[in-house]
Amino acid sequence: MANDQALDPAERMSRDELAALQRDRLQTTLARAYQNVPHYRAAFDAAGVHPADLRDLSDLAKFPFLVKADLRDNYPFGLFAVPREELLRLHASSGTTGKPIVVGYTRGDLEVWAEVMARSLRLAGARPGELIHNAYGYGLFTGGLGIHQGAEKLGLTVVPVSGGMTERQVQLITDFRPDLITVTPSYMLAILDEFRRQNIDPRTSSLRVGIFGAEPWTNAMRAEIEDAFGMDAVDIYGLSEVIGPGVSQESVETKDGLHVWEDHFYPEIINPETGEVLPDGELGELVFTSLTKEAFPVIRYRTRDLTRLLPGTARPSMRRMEKVTGRSDDMIILRGVNVFPTQIEEALLACEWCGGHFLIELTREGRMDEMTILAEARHNSWDAAAIAYHAEKLASQIKGTIGITARVAIQPPGTLERSVGKARRVVDKRPRT
Ligand code: DLL
Repeated sequence: MANDQALDPAERMSRDELAALQRDRLQTTLARAYQNVPHYRAAFDAAGVHPADLRDLSDLAKFPFLVKADLRDNYPFGLFAVPREELLRLHASSGTTGKPIVVGYTRGDLEVWAEVMARSLRLAGARPGELIHNAYGYGLFTGGLGIHQGAEKLGLTVVPVSGGMTERQVQLITDFRPDLITVTPSYMLAILDEFRRQNIDPRTSSLRVGIFGAEPWTNAMRAEIEDAFGMDAVDIYGLSEVIGPGVSQESVETKDGLHVWEDHFYPEIINPETGEVLPDGELGELVFTSLTKEAFPVIRYRTRDLTRLLPGTARPSMRRMEKVTGRSDDMIILRGVNVFPTQIEEALLACEWCGGHFLIELTREGRMDEMTILAEARHNSWDAAAIAYHAEKLASQIKGTIGITARVAIQPPGTLERSVGKARRVVDKRPRT
């Protein structure tokens, strides 16, 4: 491990030391939640469990889950464990329906967040004194400010550019010569387009590492971005309910999944149907319990993200989570076959002609669900026959590998809508039943 002394003490702990710390922190968290948050008291009582029942980490499985509906039911401040006056900041995530999810931070929480974000940036290869172009959105979204405060803690120079105004993004990257960029992978593709539109070779940019997350993305997309910019691309994961970005981070040296900062966030993988805890290595739904959060403790929060837990590598005591395949809510069931947008992304990027801009449309014709994949071509030089040939070829590859029948509609370059943050991959036009 390079430069061991620069690491936080928790990053250097043995697995046993970490487990002991987790157990102590878990006991404190459960007791505080039971004491201060009516929802947890009622839920624990209804399940017949008490914080004192947690003697071992495995006892956590006896405690009830927290689900997104609980957050909505307690909107806006009902799940906070401290008086509102003790909060220094609020963030919110919009979600797709209904009220936003509101989360709050004490001074201590903001310090923890900066610490895990600083660790994440360091694991991604950032070093004090470097320049970071932060194009995650600033505002209620946790991405911009979350990365920002971690970057300052590590000692980076931050350019708080936020999302949007793509022309200006390229200008600032060209003029300020940042070492690092933080942005959603889909918006990085829009920045790439803009480089090309301005006739600037992206490989001449100063960027050395890109830290991409906030939405699912594939190793095929990693290869696309790394190749275009001649840089390293690593994955960062997080969610507002747990803290924001910086829950887990991939190492630039190993690029083998994301190390979870387990001294602050305790992960479990469950069978999403039965709720049963699964052993490490098995694929299921990721569940988190916060170990140090003061304002907004979460106990067994069901993220709906699908992944598996693996042993640590670059940080041996911290388990890794595999790249997230998708959220259970994003899974499309097309005539009985389960498909994630990431599988479509992989198939598209295996075609030389597609640069990764795509949209999946679901419609219903008669009683049959239909999927159309709108995929943008890199170039405009094909005639109608060539377009039809390549569309059919891809459709039959998708049939052969994923097992679904989809129509592929190849679009001219630059015609699909670009996201400035998280990309919308699926448009469901099926009538509601
Ligand atoms: O997206 C926090 C974040 C900001 C993470 C910047 C990384 C970088 P939310 O808006 O609450 O928070 O959305 C959280 O986004 O449950 C996942 O479904 C998805 N997500 C986040 N990171 C990844 C990732 C931020 N690396 C939700 N891969 C999560 C796949 C991700 N999905």
